[in-house]
Amino acid sequence: MPTYETLLVEQRGRVTLVTLNRPQALNALNSQILADLLAAMAAFDADPGQGCAVITGSEKAFAAGADIKEMQAQGFADMYAHDFFAGWDRFTKTRKPVIAAVSGYALGGGCELAMMCDFILAADSAKFGQPEIKLAVSPGMGGSQRLTRAVGKAKAMEMCLTGRMMDAAEAERAGLVSRVVPAAELVEEAVKTATTIAGMAPLAVLANKEMVNAAFETSLAMGVQFERRLFHALFATEDQSEGMSAFVEKRAGTWTGK
Ligand code: CAA
Repeated sequence: MPTYETLLVEQRGRVTLVTLNRPQALNALNSQILADLLAAMAAFDADPGQGCAVITGSEKAFAAGADIKEMQAQGFADMYAHDFFAGWDRFTKTRKPVIAAVSGYALGGGCELAMMCDFILAADSAKFGQPEIKLAVSPGMGGSQRLTRAVGKAKAMEMCLTGRMMDAAEAERAGLVSRVVPAAELVEEAVKTATTIAGMAPLAVLANKEMVNAAFETSLAMGVQFERRLFHALFATEDQSEGMSAFVEKRAGTWTGK
């Protein structure tokens, strides 16, 4: 198991639990965290023994944003020439499901990272916000787009223009998070949910993730067609035959991933 400068990574059965670990900076997302996360996600995706990942932070902060100290002295030419933040797009290419388990602050890039995951489980202490405007900048890791798709224009616009934070209850009402759980139970609940996902037939998991994500990229007709083709394709798998036989024979299915 490799070790990382800014992450703690452990395997719990078929679940990879990744804990952001820069407590001195409230898990601010610097280049090292990005490099470590990309490496950890690549290892997770490549490991057939792993079926779902959970990314979490500390009790106080999932992540308080991109690292302001790293950006402070940058000018346009450097940011543009190096396409600063483009590496985060690679994070979103992770093929297996990734759950964000958010406790405390998920601000700026922290909120954006949570939204890059497949869904967010929130502790009752969670606070979400895009406060970049207070620094005279804007979201830069997709927040203006993903937040708007998640909660609609009114809330997203208000949050981006004022920097106002949303608490966990509002985030659940607005559809930003799938569920809110007591802070003390957050990681266990996320790992339990991830274990359920990791126990499903692996190809069906990939297909379900791909088709839900397609809803953000296509028209309804194209999305429904994409779903139908993938659904048909799953009938070429051994696991489909096993899954349906197991149901009829009133037993649990066992998956080969084929
Ligand atoms: N970048 C770098 N360092 C950060 C940081 C960040 N985003 N957020 C917190 N820290 C550091 C603080 O500088 C402080 O370090 P020192 O002890 O060396 O001073 C340490 O973490 C603890 O922070 P605070 O003392 O501020 O803790 P607090 O409890 O008083 O406040 C907070 C917590 C409200 C989250 C506050 O830290 C804060 O407002 N952080 C910045 C939030 C922010 O603006 N995020 C957006 C960043 S820009 C961005 O993300 C761009 C993008 O689109 C990707």
